[in-house]
Amino acid sequence: MPLPLTNHSVPFNVTRFSHVVLHVRDLDESRGFYEELIGLIVTERDGESLYLRGVEETCHHSLVLRRATGSLACERIGFRVLHEDDLDRAKKFFDLAGRDAEFVEVPHQGRTLRLHDAGGIPVEMCAHMPVQRREIIQFASHRGAAPTRIDHAQAHVADISAAADFYGELGFRVSEYASRDGTDQTAVRSIFLTRKGNANDIVLLTNLGPRLHHLAHVVHDASTTLLRVCDLAASKGMGERVEWGPNRHGLGYEQFLYLLDPDGHRVELLSPPYQLIDLEDEPYGWSTEHDDIRNLWGPDPPESWLSEATHFYGIEPKSPVVLEAALPDASRAHHSG
Ligand SMILES: [Fe+2]
Repeated sequence: MPLPLTNHSVPFNVTRFSHVVLHVRDLDESRGFYEELIGLIVTERDGESLYLRGVEETCHHSLVLRRATGSLACERIGFRVLHEDDLDRAKKFFDLAGRDAEFVEVPHQGRTLRLHDAGGIPVEMCAHMPVQRREIIQFASHRGAAPTRIDHAQAHVADISAAADFYGELGFRVSEYASRDGTDQTAVRSIFLTRKGNANDIVLLTNLGPRLHHLAHVVHDASTTLLRVCDLAASKGMGERVEWGPNRHGLGYEQFLYLLDPDGHRVELLSPPYQLIDLEDEPYGWSTEHDDIRNLWGPDPPESWLSEATHFYGIEPKSPVVLEAALPDASRAHHSG
């Protein structure tokens, strides 16, 4: 499968992956997990919603928890664009492409454009949020892992080629990918796409999709922080929330820990991803036939990590268009950062 071409003359300026909206059963229980264990800062509680951010983030929210009225789904993922004008250019771009996109009013965000990407993932884009205080040096208020910022989302998609092309056309670059032989001559199983200048903003995997596999926040001092979060989880009666790790990724190279929130939504805490800015950095291909793509050491991922993911609200996932039979040991090839 050819890798997506990166459009360097972007039709509008997406700057980064920005936020996730999750539906949860019990806001108070979820608040305990995300505030006390993960260590996000609660910016605001607004009726049936809770808005959270990392300690270095000045945006109003990078995670929104909404009390579920139906299934425990992901409502959508969000991206930021640079200027308000970029939203108008985006609307024209999607109109010309025949992709439905509509402006909506969203609390605590500027004008917001909603659409579905080519993988069927519900996304929204905005240029502004109310500015909050940066809490980096407010050490007395730090809790849990005190993550600094949101970094990326990983999603399962049925048609990874179409989904990756969508983001390539918006200026996203491929940092890494995995295929059977580690080249684009065989079916690509996972692909890391970045816009903000590090290893990933959105990671796509071929699987039943669209589904959200995880959202990821960056922590400092991961060697100690990830272990401390495991200890903290145990002491708070949340030891079963630890799903996989601490460990170190092959793809992406980060140290990582995966936890499941009270509703089964998956959160990754990871060390800061590497920088990727200079154009001579070509996409790096990994072979799914090599064990080190999953993790460099330690236990392999549990079956839950390989197969379970959060549905997007109101969207029935579809089977992948790439034949699994074409790939040996396909169920083990889902690992990524
Ligand atoms: Fe990740």
